[in-house]
Amino acid sequence: MLKTKQDELKELKQKCEKCYNCALGRTRNNIVFSDGNLEAKILLIGEAPGADEDATGIPFVGRAGKLLTNLIEESGLSRQNDFYICNTVKCRPPENRVPTDEEKKICEQFLLSQIKIVNPKLIVLCGATSAKSFLGNKIKISRIRGQWFKLFDNIDTTVIFHPSYLLRNHSEKEGSPRWLTKQDLLKIKNFIS
Ligand code: URA
Repeated sequence: MLKTKQDELKELKQKCEKCYNCALGRTRNNIVFSDGNLEAKILLIGEAPGADEDATGIPFVGRAGKLLTNLIEESGLSRQNDFYICNTVKCRPPENRVPTDEEKKICEQFLLSQIKIVNPKLIVLCGATSAKSFLGNKIKISRIRGQWFKLFDNIDTTVIFHPSYLLRNHSEKEGSPRWLTKQDLLKIKNFIS
């Protein structure tokens, strides 16, 4: 019998739960596999789980996640219906440090499989770590955000600022990072509508 997307993702998650291929596996409380809708048109990739995500097993539920959710909803999109959300690595790096290239490489099999199974219309790279994973370590997030690319088999891809950066930048004035992110999300909404 043909496996459904749900079956395939369930199997992948079980494999991930058994993964101790890098040191992050030894310090995690939970793997943080995904949230949202596996039939969504948009697949958003963040950096790595933080403390709240490690405790709950759900991506983007801490302060940064709440801001991301608010921005998504304010733009007229629904976090739970329009997005499948995951991260470059599935386990929390100690002290919330940026995951190393090696950790990202080891975890990449899970992310690439998620992308293949979900088969989104649009990939949103959220923040520098996620953007660097796909576009190279030399990119500058402030230059690349708002730009559109094709990845893999012609999948449209765009880059937005990470909500942790927006938490440190409160201004909503025209041209500010928050303002730019709202523009980016509106463009994303138009794209999938
Ligand atoms: N930051 C991320 O990049 N991902 C999360 O899941 C939480 C915070």
